[in-house]
Amino acid sequence: MKAVAAMSLNRVIGRDGEIPWHLPEDFKWFKELTTGGIVLMGRKTFSSLPKPLPNRTNVVFTRGPRLLSHDTAFLAKCGDKPIVGSWGMRLRRQGFQLGFERIAEREIWLVRGINRFLAAIERCQPKRDVFVIGGAQIYERLLPKCSDLFLTVVNREAEGDAVFPPFEHLFSADYQVVRKTADFEVRHYVRA
Ligand SMILES: NC(=O)c1ccc[n+]([C@@H]2O[C@H](COP(=O)([O-])OP(=O)(O)OC[C@H]3O[C@@H](n4cnc5c(N)ncnc54)[C@H](OP(=O)(O)O)[C@@H]3O)[C@@H](O)[C@H]2O)c1
Repeated sequence: MKAVAAMSLNRVIGRDGEIPWHLPEDFKWFKELTTGGIVLMGRKTFSSLPKPLPNRTNVVFTRGPRLLSHDTAFLAKCGDKPIVGSWGMRLRRQGFQLGFERIAEREIWLVRGINRFLAAIERCQPKRDVFVIGGAQIYERLLPKCSDLFLTVVNREAEGDAVFPPFEHLFSADYQVVRKTADFEVRHYVRA
């Protein structure tokens, strides 16, 4: 699993449920990196998106999957014919034969049991990359499980209510700068 995040110089990643900057070049980088993959996010991050991320399998962590799957705003956002899967139900029905590679590109999964989900990922060994894309709660929970971190450091301070958790102890201090503009640089860290 790889994490992808963007933080300001003072470690802010979000404000009022949104990202407090608009950097199209960074969004472009994020899209290039994650397209075709499986993206894991918290329910609040999913709520901040205008629609599910296209050409990626969207996995949304929530403690209330049933409630969310009946929420009209959620369903409207998912498109005309959302395929919303409840991971728990599928696990009961099909054991671990989940077949990540067979699921439709617009499929959205609501997941309550993060540990069981991670176990399933480990067993299935999906051929596609798995990316942890936030927000703060989910980074905090899953960064220790990530082999790589692609961290955009935005060249400014920002006000906000969501911050990136400590990660320095998890990854090697040597990082590679894989993209750089006047506004930000993208650092690639690997597990220490
Ligand atoms: N700069 C960046 O790179 C970046 C990336 C992503 C997001 N963000 C920003 O970060 C902010 C959101 O972060 P956040 O920390 O507030 O929320 P979040 O991590 O996106 O989502 C939190 C939600 O995830 C679910 N959740 C958390 N732990 C869980 C667990 N153990 N099992 C099952 N579900 C669990 C819960 O959903 P329920 O309440 O439904 O149970 C919880 O409310 C926003 O401002 C967003 O724009 C920034």
